[in-house]
Amino acid sequence: MKGSSNQYQTNYVSKIFNVQLHFINLLTYLLILVFGLTLGIIISFYLKECTFSLQFTQLSLSSLPRTPPLPPPVAKQERVGLKDFLKPPPIVHDMDDEELLWRASMTAKINEYPFERVPKVAFMFLTRGPVFLAPLWEQFFKGHEGYYSIYVHSNPSYNGSYPETPVFSGRRIPSKEVAWGNVNMIEAERRLLSNALLDISNQRFVLLSESCIPLFNFSTIYSYLINSTENYVMAFDDPSGVGRGRYSIQMLPEVSLKQWRKGFQWFEMDRELALGVVSDRIYFPVFQQYCKGSCYADEHYLPTFVSIKFWEGNSNRSLTWVDWSKGGPHPAHFLRSDVTVEFLERLRNKKCKYNNGNSTNACFLFARKFLPSTLSRLLKIAPQVMQFEHYDDRPKKQKPSLKPII
Ligand SMILES: *[C@@H]1O[C@H](CO)[C@@H](O)[C@H](O)[C@H]1NC(C)=O
Ligand SMILES: *[C@@H]1O[C@H](CO)[C@@H](O)[C@H](O)[C@H]1NC(C)=O
Ligand SMILES: *[C@@H]1O[C@H](CO)[C@@H](O)[C@H](O)[C@H]1NC(C)=O
Ligand SMILES: *[C@@H]1O[C@H](CO)[C@@H](O)[C@H](O)[C@H]1NC(C)=O
Ligand SMILES: *[C@@H]1O[C@H](CO)[C@@H](O)[C@H](O)[C@H]1NC(C)=O
Repeated sequence: MKGSSNQYQTNYVSKIFNVQLHFINLLTYLLILVFGLTLGIIISFYLKECTFSLQFTQLSLSSLPRTPPLPPPVAKQERVGLKDFLKPPPIVHDMDDEELLWRASMTAKINEYPFERVPKVAFMFLTRGPVFLAPLWEQFFKGHEGYYSIYVHSNPSYNGSYPETPVFSGRRIPSKEVAWGNVNMIEAERRLLSNALLDISNQRFVLLSESCIPLFNFSTIYSYLINSTENYVMAFDDPSGVGRGRYSIQMLPEVSLKQWRKGFQWFEMDRELALGVVSDRIYFPVFQQYCKGSCYADEHYLPTFVSIKFWEGNSNRSLTWVDWSKGGPHPAHFLRSDVTVEFLERLRNKKCKYNNGNSTNACFLFARKFLPSTLSRLLKIAPQVMQFEHYDDRPKKQKPSLKPII
């Protein structure tokens, strides 16, 4: 029994001890819990403060001046809207005729330019192949960059094998087949005008061929054209078979026989008339349909159209001289032996009414038809006769020998 009471005692003691142990454990847990809670609260507070201060540091960091500091926005700002709009598009584009004419027909309704605009003269060359008198034109254009633009429409079959001189390089516009006397010649002229209209600086538009030469220096031609109040589209009423005789009654009601005019295609016009020509949707289709073959649309469309719609500003004469005195359907050609100082002076000295007033000025600024063989002779005498401003008048002298004298 003793053993059992002993055992009981031991059990009792251990029970009491266990309870005490439990209590201590509980207390410890409680303490840990309280400690944990406090720690948690403290940490969460601390963290909050930390993020606050972190944000604050970031804020104060970003507001600190960086190196280099952002430039003030006005200092070196590039102009965008207008600058892009005024830039002439590239010569080579993928617009078809319909797209090109539509784009070229756009014009501003406000007549004053809100920027400085230096008016340019567009020289448009309608050629079969190369501009073989290009070296003469080079001398003519020299030193006048920024006052002219050049456009060349040559037959698409021309492979460009002839060497291009600097001012003509890269100036060939996308072109199509052209046949003499065919209505597609006017399509080519409208294509040239459209391409030139895309450059907002172009103010006057001259149509030339590969056989044309200038008769004056650049500054004379430039101020003649820029100051002119007229257009130069040749137009006259020719009662003969090769005038009125080419009219077709089917062109009524748009074009009557009374309105029918003749003239030679080498025109010079201002921007307003050029816009009128590219946006004509009434008269040109009539010519496309009823002026084929021996009607020679290139001799009738522009003279008739201008006389109907734009007669007021037209001088009815051409600025390009050509010799019809020999008769036949083609004007005379000039060979090397025809090119003399006297001949050129004679063409320069013809006087005509200028700007519809009392003043007179030169009748002709250009002349045709000069064959390729005339080039060397022209290069020799034309710059002096026409007083070109910056031509190379000194023949290339042999350089003095730089061999050291031993
Ligand atoms: C270009 O065409 C001419 C004749 O039309 C020919 O003689 C020449 O070889 C051609 N050149 C090239 C590069 O095809
Ligand atoms: C054209 O006008 C300018 C000024 O606008 C003048 O300097 C120049 O002499 C004029 N030229 C002609 C040919 O009238
Ligand atoms: C040009 O011709 C038209 C008729 O076709 C005429 O009304 C106009 O007065 C002429 N202009 C000049 C400057 O002669
Ligand atoms: C042209 O000359 C006539 C007389 O010769 C004169 O009456 C007229 O006013 C002049 N016109 C101009 C625009 O100068
Ligand atoms: C250009 O030609 C005109 C005559 O048409 C002349 O008066 C002028 O002096 C020439 N210009 C130069 C720079 O030679």
